[in-house]
Amino acid sequence: MAFTLPELPYPADALESGHMSAETFSFHHDKHHAAYVNNLNKQIEGTELADKSLEEIITATFKDSSKAGIFNNAAQVWNHTFFWHCMKPGGGGQPSGALADKINSDLGGYDKFKEEFKNAATTQFGSGWAWLVLDNGTLKVTKTGNAENPLANGQTALLTLDVWEHAYYLDFQNRRPDFIQNFLDHLVNWDFVAENLAKAS
Ligand code: FE2
Repeated sequence: MAFTLPELPYPADALESGHMSAETFSFHHDKHHAAYVNNLNKQIEGTELADKSLEEIITATFKDSSKAGIFNNAAQVWNHTFFWHCMKPGGGGQPSGALADKINSDLGGYDKFKEEFKNAATTQFGSGWAWLVLDNGTLKVTKTGNAENPLANGQTALLTLDVWEHAYYLDFQNRRPDFIQNFLDHLVNWDFVAENLAKAS
């Protein structure tokens, strides 16, 4: 069955107070995310992957050079759907509860997390993603290039930030570090991250 482009979990202008504009969503969701969905559907039509879940397609095609195009589109569909939920109006700041405790014990506290995450997102050369993942029960901050994601690497994604230039150019032009700082200060949906941790624990 063909995949469909998921709706945003909030109106396209809902994050404008957090400096992510409706214009950014009109390209990032309506054009880029939509293109990954359409390309994936064309690539899997009539193949043995056509009736598989997105997660099954991602793990089945990872590191198979003959299926790199399918992997890239499937992972980008998954990554973007996940990313939209990682933000909310009035988000950002510090997490609380069990998630905060876990960040304290595994990463040395929120400030250390923030530095590691900013460093991962800034130093991902070219296109890619920064992540907070659960890896064998331990929190880790990671980065991946292009479409690659934690699912492909056997980790559980808890939080991500898209650092492809298309994610920030309209609102921040070339200033990726400002985009990252803004995401941490104004956009992170810690409730979603806490739900992901609870489901994985
Ligand atoms: Fe993107």
